[in-house]
Amino acid sequence: MSQIFHRSTNTFAKLSIYGSIFIIGGILAVIIAVNRSGYVTQAGVTREQPVPFSHQHHVAAIGVDCRYCHTTVETAAVAGIPPTKTCMNCHSQIWSTSPMLEPVRDSYRTDKSIRWIRVHDLPDFAYFNHSIHVTKGVGCSTCHGQVDRMPLVWQHSSLQMEWCLDCHRKPEKYVRPREQVFNMEYEPPADQIALGKQLVKDYKIQSLTSCSTCHR
Ligand code: HEC
Ligand code: HEC
Ligand code: HEC
Ligand code: HEC
Ligand code: HEC
Repeated sequence: MSQIFHRSTNTFAKLSIYGSIFIIGGILAVIIAVNRSGYVTQAGVTREQPVPFSHQHHVAAIGVDCRYCHTTVETAAVAGIPPTKTCMNCHSQIWSTSPMLEPVRDSYRTDKSIRWIRVHDLPDFAYFNHSIHVTKGVGCSTCHGQVDRMPLVWQHSSLQMEWCLDCHRKPEKYVRPREQVFNMEYEPPADQIALGKQLVKDYKIQSLTSCSTCHR
């Protein structure tokens, strides 16, 4: 049979077929990388707030406990954002004429809440609950990072499903003694896995990976 195409065409065809696989693979890799990047997850990005409230000042310097402001974090699904009255407990006395705090005083006078811009926000189809994590020994800083070092809050973790599941599959990698949950300086010990396994037993921590745990 006579050859219609020259031999080299074969090589060319093979090259372009394999080539396209690499190109498609490359494009997929880029899409996945972008999806996990801070650009999409908004991790590491601070928001401009109506008042430049600083956790660094209020937590690390002044020493106010998380629960003074996030009052429901141990008992409810949401941690809660403090009402203006909480700020005024101190700021009716301290820095009471500072222009930076004018929006706080205005909110107090007019009884209109300060409109804080949310930093963490899961999609509605994913259910999250603070109280269970706090009672089972997951520290604030494990998920939120060292908030006490943040002049403005940014999102420390991706909050993507993969991130939740990494811990739900092996909670012993992350859990700490309950009394350390609010400690921003806590460092996991060298034998974390041994400690973790003990805590998993003591606190009866389950590995919750079924879809209905978070999608209900
Ligand atoms: C004096 C009050 C106060 C204290 C104490 C405080 N916070 Fe906050 N926190 C706020 C306010 C107000 C906001 C909303 C403005 C912002 O995002 O910065 C906030 C926001 C946050 C957010 C981001 C919320 C969002 O929009 O997603 C996290 C996370 C957080 N706080 C964690 C902590 C942790 C952890 C501690 C203890 C180490 C703590 N906070 C102590 C007042 C406080
Ligand atoms: C337990 C008392 C206390 C509470 C509650 C409190 N503050 Fe403060 N705040 C202070 C003190 C003290 C300073 C002065 C810090 C300094 O000079 O280093 C301050 C400073 C500030 C400043 C000045 C800017 C800076 O350097 O941080 C802002 C803005 C501010 N607070 C906002 C708020 C808001 C908003 C709330 C309520 C969510 C709040 N504070 C609740 C004690 C408090
Ligand atoms: C297991 C991870 C995890 C731990 C531990 C955790 N958080 Fe959160 N936090 C989240 C997630 C996820 C959101 C976003 C929730 C949403 O959008 O529904 C959030 C949101 C918040 C918010 C915004 C208001 C709200 O309730 O949605 C505050 C404030 C907050 N966390 C404070 C804290 C404090 C204080 C602690 C420690 C006592 C803590 N968190 C421990 C994951 C965690
Ligand atoms: C660092 C560890 C860790 C991370 C990260 C984490 N979790 Fe959990 N989660 C736990 C532990 C521990 C429990 C308690 C399991 C048990 O009941 O024994 C739990 C329990 C839960 C529960 C069960 C609550 C209930 O009322 O039944 C839900 C829902 C949940 N997590 C959602 C999430 C979501 C959504 C994320 C990600 C945004 C997340 N978790 C991230 C450790 C983690
Ligand atoms: C520990 C909590 C948790 C469990 C268990 C879980 N998911 Fe998710 N899932 C999430 C969170 C949080 C998101 C939102 C992620 C985001 O915003 O990027 C999500 C997102 C999704 C999405 C949207 C696409 C995506 O990846 O963002 C799908 C589909 C999904 N989950 C399916 C499932 C299925 C099927 C299962 C069971 C095999 C499951 N999930 C178990 C927490 C969970």
